[in-house]
Amino acid sequence: MLEELNERFAVDHQLRFEEHESGLIQGCVRSKKCNGSFFLLGGHVAEFQPHGQAPLLFLSTQSRFEVGKPIRGGVPLCFPWFGPHEADPDAPAHGLARTQVWDVSATEVRDEDVVVTLTTEIQSFELEYNLRFGESLDLEMRVGNRAAQSQSYELALHTYFQISDVADASISGLEDVSFFDKLTGETQPAEGRPIVFREETDRIYQATVEQISLQDRGWERTVLIRPRGSQSTVVWNPWTDKARKMADFGDREYPHMGCVETANVGPQRVHLAPGEQSTTGVTLSLVR
Ligand code: BG6
Repeated sequence: MLEELNERFAVDHQLRFEEHESGLIQGCVRSKKCNGSFFLLGGHVAEFQPHGQAPLLFLSTQSRFEVGKPIRGGVPLCFPWFGPHEADPDAPAHGLARTQVWDVSATEVRDEDVVVTLTTEIQSFELEYNLRFGESLDLEMRVGNRAAQSQSYELALHTYFQISDVADASISGLEDVSFFDKLTGETQPAEGRPIVFREETDRIYQATVEQISLQDRGWERTVLIRPRGSQSTVVWNPWTDKARKMADFGDREYPHMGCVETANVGPQRVHLAPGEQSTTGVTLSLVR
């Protein structure tokens, strides 16, 4: 399989498929602009590091890398539902996409960026996921409804950002947006100030925003998050107690990560008529 993937899809010296120490297959990008990697398991982007910068994405040292289990960190794909399944308590949290093995359908170099297309099908939804590794990381998911009837889905590009320390980080761009607090089950009005992590935080901001910035004073950098086709943003940090309960996450990792997830979830779920498509994407870039 590895040999065949490399024959068909390796690109010069910039993209190769390798076996991760767990045995999973990983696409490794080593280009003029960045290092990056993704797993076929979950269509999961695990690493993105523009040269000369600290890694942009957090990946837990305790993550499992096992078929059937999600990877902790990077960008898990939540689809076609977000959180627990509405009707089936035994269904896996955050849907089926993050534990499904995706196919590679195309790779190329475009303007010195490495571009990869991964595809899969889930419950009569056809998914095409385009990854573009350059100075920025661009992720774009196209979902088409192949069923004979209308269907709806939730989607989150569940992005784990690496940060120097929560004490030195804040998130701007959502100051004017009301949010559903998953911890209390209540909708809260806009706070009018940047978000900081000082306790467990689990919120769904309910609006379309053009740009969110994650300021990291410790590393003197700002990550710009530019969503498109997204009507909600999930902001999450598990903090101490939840971190201890998560088997695949270190007890002391929570100060060094924060999730800002480009999403369409809850009331912002997407409805598709038969044959209809929709696209959700995000561009992540670093400014020093
Ligand atoms: C977030 C959710 O997106 O993902 C949280 O809002 C959840 O409620 C978190 O705890 C992690 O989920 P999981 O299934 O990867 O442990």
